[in-house]
Amino acid sequence: MRVFVTGASGWIGSAVVDDLLAAGHDVTGLARSDASAAALAAKGAHVRRGELDDLDGIRAGASDAEAVIHLANKHDFANPAVSNAAERAAVQTIGDALAGTGRPLLLASGIAVLAKGRPATEADASPFHGPDSPRGGSENLALEFADRGVHPVSLRFSPTVHGTGDHGFIAHLSAIAREKGVSGYPGDGSNRWAAVHRSDAARLVTLGLEKAPAGSRLHAVAEVGVPTREIAEAIGRAFDLPVASVAAEDVQDHYGWIGAFFAMDLSATSTQTRELLGWTPTGPTLVEDLDTGAYKSR
Ligand SMILES: NC(=O)c1ccc[n+]([C@@H]2O[C@H](COP(=O)([O-])OP(=O)(O)OC[C@H]3O[C@@H](n4cnc5c(N)ncnc54)[C@H](OP(=O)(O)O)[C@@H]3O)[C@@H](O)[C@H]2O)c1
Repeated sequence: MRVFVTGASGWIGSAVVDDLLAAGHDVTGLARSDASAAALAAKGAHVRRGELDDLDGIRAGASDAEAVIHLANKHDFANPAVSNAAERAAVQTIGDALAGTGRPLLLASGIAVLAKGRPATEADASPFHGPDSPRGGSENLALEFADRGVHPVSLRFSPTVHGTGDHGFIAHLSAIAREKGVSGYPGDGSNRWAAVHRSDAARLVTLGLEKAPAGSRLHAVAEVGVPTREIAEAIGRAFDLPVASVAAEDVQDHYGWIGAFFAMDLSATSTQTRELLGWTPTGPTLVEDLDTGAYKSR
């Protein structure tokens, strides 16, 4: 399939591009820098130069493709309204471009706030609607395009898509631990984070492109939930730091913007995804990655 990938140079996107190419797909990646363009070309992908905010360029990329995988995100965590607006506008533009074609639109999403007191499942609809909601309500916006002749699929990634070279949440938590001289966990550390290795997440995206029915919500989840205390202990071992609880009232001060996420229970299952696609994660666990130095190179 001729696939247009936004975020093709990112942590997940670069692995997705590798997996798509290995599966025989023809990939065009969005690149906003010379370095990203060169990296994509070196792999054998086509390059479309452009910015997420250049909606004409996004529209043209989507119109030229047989499928779109939207992974780009501004990730302005200190000013989420900026990221949310860009995300919503991009999804609206891609959906409009694909309307009436029956073509797949896969988009990145997450598992936060889908369920209370239990792991989230694929059956849990996102409560986020409208431009002012997290991620600009992009999952629901995309899924609604099923009524307009698009084949939308949501890719709900675990809060940590981990591995060597990850610059996401676990790398950020590791940096905070090193800066503070202590690897902290919120409260009693019993709240959990789902996790998936990057290679397994990438495989799931390709399978989702090839096999997922329209309207699917896929869970890129290998581990239902790793207690934050275990995550902090593994970071402590990796960087030879003491491990300690951070009281609820100190979480914001200690962690900054990531505190709210690290204090949440972000657990999820992937039973339906595995059954639907025959997906079986095989990569290392989050703690195995931390214990074998995946985060030490940064
Ligand atoms: N990693 C995780 O654990 C995780 C968990 C849940 C959900 N997600 C979601 O999954 C998606 C991919 O995440 P990731 O970890 O791969 O993110 P990432 O490594 O930060 O990559 C972000 C990608 O978006 C591109 N991008 C950012 N701003 C852009 C702009 N203004 N114009 C064009 N491209 C732009 C980046 O391009 P450059 O290379 O030029 O910067 C990069 O390719 C995101 O939507 C993310 O929110 C990730």
